[in-house]
Amino acid sequence: MAMPCRLRRGVLLLLLLVAGASAASHPANEFCAAAAAGGGGDGCGGGGGGDGRRLLIRGGTVVNAHRVEEADVYIEDGVIVAVRPNIPVGDDNVKVIDATGKYVMPGGIDPHTHLEMEFMGTVTIDDFFSGHAAALAGGTTMHIDFVIPVNGNLTAGLESYKQKAEKSAMDYGFHMAITKWNDDVSREMESMVKEHGINSFKFFMAYKGSLMVTDDLLLQGLQKCKSLGALAMVHAENGDAVAEGQQRMINLGITGPEGHALSRPPVLEGEATARAIRLAKFVNTPLYVVHVMSVDAMDEIAKAKREGQRVIGEPVVSGLVLDDSWLWDPDFTVASKYVMSPPIREAGHNKALRAALSSGILQLVGTDHCTFNSTQKAFGSDDFRKIPNGVNGIEERMHIIWDSMVETGQISVSDYVRVTSTECAKIFNIYPRKGAILEGSDADIIILNPERSFVMGAQTHHSRSNTNVYEGRKGKGMVEVTISRGRVVWEDGILNIVPGSGRYVRTPPFSYLFDGIEKSDAAYRASLRAPVQRSKAAA
Ligand code: URP
Ligand code: ZN
Ligand code: ZN
Repeated sequence: MAMPCRLRRGVLLLLLLVAGASAASHPANEFCAAAAAGGGGDGCGGGGGGDGRRLLIRGGTVVNAHRVEEADVYIEDGVIVAVRPNIPVGDDNVKVIDATGKYVMPGGIDPHTHLEMEFMGTVTIDDFFSGHAAALAGGTTMHIDFVIPVNGNLTAGLESYKQKAEKSAMDYGFHMAITKWNDDVSREMESMVKEHGINSFKFFMAYKGSLMVTDDLLLQGLQKCKSLGALAMVHAENGDAVAEGQQRMINLGITGPEGHALSRPPVLEGEATARAIRLAKFVNTPLYVVHVMSVDAMDEIAKAKREGQRVIGEPVVSGLVLDDSWLWDPDFTVASKYVMSPPIREAGHNKALRAALSSGILQLVGTDHCTFNSTQKAFGSDDFRKIPNGVNGIEERMHIIWDSMVETGQISVSDYVRVTSTECAKIFNIYPRKGAILEGSDADIIILNPERSFVMGAQTHHSRSNTNVYEGRKGKGMVEVTISRGRVVWEDGILNIVPGSGRYVRTPPFSYLFDGIEKSDAAYRASLRAPVQRSKAAA
């Protein structure tokens, strides 16, 4: 991960300027543009020859969520063709990568990102190119981003995100936010699912005055999601109470970043999580709670699961490993970079969230990658309510989860694959095309060396932000190679990516989470013992 930053930024800029053009010639550094999408990348970080179409990963430990085995992996034209020991090469045009002593795993899938999102009067600094550069350098080969409607209009929102994604360098999917309700929105939801390959809708229960929805809207939305086989997702905080809490802090003269955490305590996250869970239960539809940051929210999810409800809890890396002490840092630039919502909590919540991840109460890890640089964060230098909410993570997730969960013995290597990739593919109905190293799966693969160490920071990361909430963090386990649809895009610290080469991945409705819903609806109706047939009594 360590590399000369000045060169990288310069070439990144150049690549953006030539987006879509053929190979740029660059000095030897860690960024290379491949000759064309699907090109081999020889002499440009590709190393080891081959025609770029065929690849053999030899001698590694192949990890799937369901199995760990010693095997080779043979890839042709972006697809995994064989997974078994001792695959012979027999052809000079096959690029061979030696993975002896290393783990060969499905590329990460980040279920929660915000690239080039207009938010709080500004735009997140990572777009679909720099965000993808960061993701690939960190071992993530696909993500699902949130489309924000334009004035409530879903179609206009999707058009805008399609344009943003033209510079993509890896595969991506979309969730859609719902910010207002009327018959048009209801019809558009149907078209998003049936025509545009979007199978999940997010409802913000916070951000009063901008994205927040009422319970009435949430209820309509849950019902519509159920009818479409689409997954309802919630940002669970009580937005009305948050607004009160913010005013309370201002009245107390607390205007700095610590006011952010103080204004929206865990109880407000727990309350909204419980409310969303109960409404989803009333409708009998699955629910996905994004960025679970507190024990309060996690406990509500655990309780619902114990009672048999289908609720998915997604912690994010920042909530798993950071704590809120940074928000009290006397340096505003430091403190403000940790402002996100729900807030990063007091130490203790992180440990409990890690335990919940290892025991399956929480199921998959996202990042909520939503980056703003220090200039953007400074918009709130005299009022924490104006600090754009969001932190980085798309590049760091795979390394931090390995180091904090696998290296510490809290989860197995197969559970690592499950929480960083397979579970996401299953929930969003793209498994086993994604999230697996199986014959026929897309060749999205990482090779991780468990013996190597990493150091994180803004000087070496690939995000455009000049800050990093994991600044100086050290750990073990290094993604040495990232393969995106059969192309080696990250090797020996060199990125070899092509703007415009990413593909939109459609997510079909009615994932496994919907299996049996009709039967439980029928059981519910049968249990009503109503309407009671009454004979009309004579008056
Ligand atoms: O602070 C955050 N989480 N920013 C991104 C928007 C959201 O709530 O997911
Ligand atoms: Zn959110
Ligand atoms: Zn988010």
